[in-house]
Amino acid sequence: MRILVVGSGGREHALCWKLAQEAEVVCAPGNAGIATDVECVNIPTNDFHSLLTLIRERSIELVVVGPEDPLVGGLADAVREAGVPCFGPGRQGAQLEGSKAFCKAMMQRAGVPTADYQVFIDADAAKAYAKDYYAQGKKLAIKASGNALGKGVIVAETAEEAFSGVDTLKALGEAGKTLVLEQKLEGPEYSLLTITNGKDIYSLPVAQDYKRIFDGDQGPNTGGMGTYSPVSWVDAALVKLTEEAIVLPILETLREDGIEYRGVLFSGLMLTSEGPKCLEYNVRFGDPETQSVLSRLGAGFAAALAACAVGEPIPKIEVLSDAAVTVVAASEGYPGDYQKGLPIEFGEISQNVKVFHAGTTKSNGAIVTNGGRVLAVTATAATQEQARKDAYTALQQIRFDGMYARKDIGA
Ligand code: AMP
Ligand code: GLY
Repeated sequence: MRILVVGSGGREHALCWKLAQEAEVVCAPGNAGIATDVECVNIPTNDFHSLLTLIRERSIELVVVGPEDPLVGGLADAVREAGVPCFGPGRQGAQLEGSKAFCKAMMQRAGVPTADYQVFIDADAAKAYAKDYYAQGKKLAIKASGNALGKGVIVAETAEEAFSGVDTLKALGEAGKTLVLEQKLEGPEYSLLTITNGKDIYSLPVAQDYKRIFDGDQGPNTGGMGTYSPVSWVDAALVKLTEEAIVLPILETLREDGIEYRGVLFSGLMLTSEGPKCLEYNVRFGDPETQSVLSRLGAGFAAALAACAVGEPIPKIEVLSDAAVTVVAASEGYPGDYQKGLPIEFGEISQNVKVFHAGTTKSNGAIVTNGGRVLAVTATAATQEQARKDAYTALQQIRFDGMYARKDIGA
């Protein structure tokens, strides 16, 4: 099978690495690390015309779309219209991630447990609502409805933080045109990646993400600073409950509207005192969840994605008993401004560790930084503790100016 993976981050590196164990893989545009595992063709993810030409020229049999932007833009529809199977929802299904207002409305219709919410376009009306809300002793999460690259959610401890949160998200422009103000929930979070052919589902092993930049979950939200899998407190019964209450109803509601969702549904979840609640859906694999989750899979991943893409029953994927821990090495300053183009040195990395590249490129033959999240170092071992040690040992073999990583991933 010949597969095209679209994207250029750590998630796509993990997808390429895993799929290349079972198929012939090309990546567009890829990055310096992906190019060491599979062939990369330098086509940006928004150049649908050139991607379709590549698909035709290379007789691609399956397209796997990594990031949300091309999905929201309709890449999966275009590929399917060209007669090629695509793993990823069409433009309509991708609205689950493209618009938080749409997503919340669909959750409500589907009866999915989620935080109570209100939608606002007017900043003053949002602030008046927030003022009243905090006066009742409750707290809010303020969200930009559109895609804000991981910077669109502010959990506000005080009414003042909520007011400035409204202003901050409004200042994003288009992404913050519509705001969702929702009740702040409490509880531990987990990520469930469920692949689906539109009807049948198959959930991959659960992962936990570390969203904040600093140790101890301090500081602003990021795209994700590390993950581990499995998650001991999320047992099979909780996964089943999550599928029944949160995954299946939303797919059914989409189907009622004639939207067949073929791809991965990423549920961002919180286990509250009232049971699991859905914070959000993403329409793509999580980053860096994918690096940990795929490292725990054996045979069958490529065949399962191919089956989902054409609406056929999903074959089983082998799941290994090993634990995986992924630690992200970020640029100094991330999630704010950061420098690019800094040379990266790699030392000796042990066999059970894979260094996935998230934001790297080649410059004059050397591998240099090219993003906020630069590398994702994933170790697998018999225990989480060992995987954690091995990931951090490997990280010590890598250096670039200003390299930053959390020290408490998987602790
Ligand atoms: P989201 O992009 O919606 O998943 O939000 C990013 C992060 O913000 C989540 O992983 C949570 O840590 C936090 N968050 C989002 N919604 C809520 C909520 N209703 N209550 C508490 N924290 C939230
Ligand atoms: N790690 C969370 C995400 O991919 O959105």
